Amino acid sequence: MVPGGANRFAATMPHYFDSAPSVPSQRGTVMLRLADFEAELVVDRGVFSSGGIDPGTLELLRSGAGGEPGGQRAGQALLDLGCGYGPIAVTLAHRYPGATVWAVEVNTRALELTAVNAARHELSTRVRPVTPEQVPGDVSFAGIWSNPPIRIGKDALHELLRTWLPRLTPDGSAWLVVHKHLGGDSLASWLDREGWQVRRTGSRKGYRLLEIRRTLEIRPETAT
Ligand SMILES: C[S@@+](CC[C@H](N)C(=O)[O-])C[C@H]1O[C@@H](n2cnc3c(N)ncnc32)[C@H](O)[C@@H]1O
Repeated sequence: MVPGGANRFAATMPHYFDSAPSVPSQRGTVMLRLADFEAELVVDRGVFSSGGIDPGTLELLRSGAGGEPGGQRAGQALLDLGCGYGPIAVTLAHRYPGATVWAVEVNTRALELTAVNAARHELSTRVRPVTPEQVPGDVSFAGIWSNPPIRIGKDALHELLRTWLPRLTPDGSAWLVVHKHLGGDSLASWLDREGWQVRRTGSRKGYRLLEIRRTLEIRPETAT
């Protein structure tokens, strides 16, 4: 590698997944428009997709992942993995009254925005914006939703999924949205090789929607 070359530049570039963005704060708002929920959300520089709701996130939220809105998830813990400024977390809290939504994120500016956005929509009591270390070890998730941070690199992404997917409840599901140009199909194959049951639930505009569940254990019948 040439000293001072492209790699050194890449290493010092700011990323949306930096824990404390170096770009000065400049808040604004974006509109989240879904059939069942509309929300103005506060955004800022240095967080993912601050110019508008990411199209992949919209695909995930419009896909019906997680099932019909309603009280059937009351008492459940749900996870928005990599919550950014919170479009997924606030939508889940709105759709599933009584559920607790853990909004996990490494970017502290994004976490503050998720807290602000939950408060603006009177969802603060059920949205918990936290860093990964702040999630108690004994919490299991009935559902995980994520537009995952592909830009952190394949190894880090695999590590992230190996950390959180095993925290699904036995009959829980995770829903991921990943564009095919960002490796949606190879991620599905990798999850399959890791022993997860992967269902491709949709593909619109190149966005792959994956539902991930535990592989059913086939137990030998007990002799009588
Ligand atoms: C593609 S963005 C999606 C953000 C948001 N959910 C949305 O839909 O707008 C992925 C997010 O994951 C966060 N992230 C990166 N590494 C992470 C990690 N190890 N744990 C939790 N979140 C992480 C990034 O900071 C980023 O905000």
